[in-house]
Amino acid sequence: SAPLVIAVDGPAASGKGTIAKALARHFDLPHMDTGLLYRSVALSLWRFGGDAGNPFEAVRAAGEIDKIDPDDEELRSETVGELASRVSAYPAVRKALFERQRAFAAQDGGAVLDGRDIGTVIAPEARAKLFVTASPDVRAMRRFKELGARGVEVHYEEVLADIVARDARDADRAAAPLLKAEDADLLDTSDLSIERAVQRAIALVEARL
Ligand code: C5P
Repeated sequence: SAPLVIAVDGPAASGKGTIAKALARHFDLPHMDTGLLYRSVALSLWRFGGDAGNPFEAVRAAGEIDKIDPDDEELRSETVGELASRVSAYPAVRKALFERQRAFAAQDGGAVLDGRDIGTVIAPEARAKLFVTASPDVRAMRRFKELGARGVEVHYEEVLADIVARDARDADRAAAPLLKAEDADLLDTSDLSIERAVQRAIALVEARL
């Protein structure tokens, strides 16, 4: 039968990254965090001094992401996340990153990818698709705690406003907006612990095998 491809999409701080990693471990599949690609474009633009308002410079930055260390802590920063959400709205940037994601999804042994448009654009043929969500309040609280644990001082209201703004930008853009694929299973993690959410996710994928 066809290799197992699992698409995990959802908004910021929904738990999709944690769930995707756990699924990859459980089903022994390679995993790609596609948000990291967009974050790498943003960081490359930032480091090498490009203008995020200029799609041509953003595309040039997309050609340079191999110069970014995937373990660079700055990739996880809110500034880079914000900038990533801006450059990811350019169709030419999405196009520049398409092949890399497509090839990962099409590898012989199967794969897990998480992002915003995996089930809709990158791997519409994926056997299992999860759309992971949680209420904005819950996601903001998770992000707030995560930042606190890293020693970053922020106000909860500020984090919530950022989450809401990022949701709007990701959902309202013309190019590959954040959208639940018709054939995706919805997994709302608002009231679930990480363990329960992962259990649910595994059960949903198993039901598709
Ligand atoms: O998931 P993460 O917060 O790391 O993604 C950063 C930004 O990259 C998102 O806000 C989104 O705008 C963009 N992104 C995207 N498509 C993906 C993954 C991320 O547009 N597949």
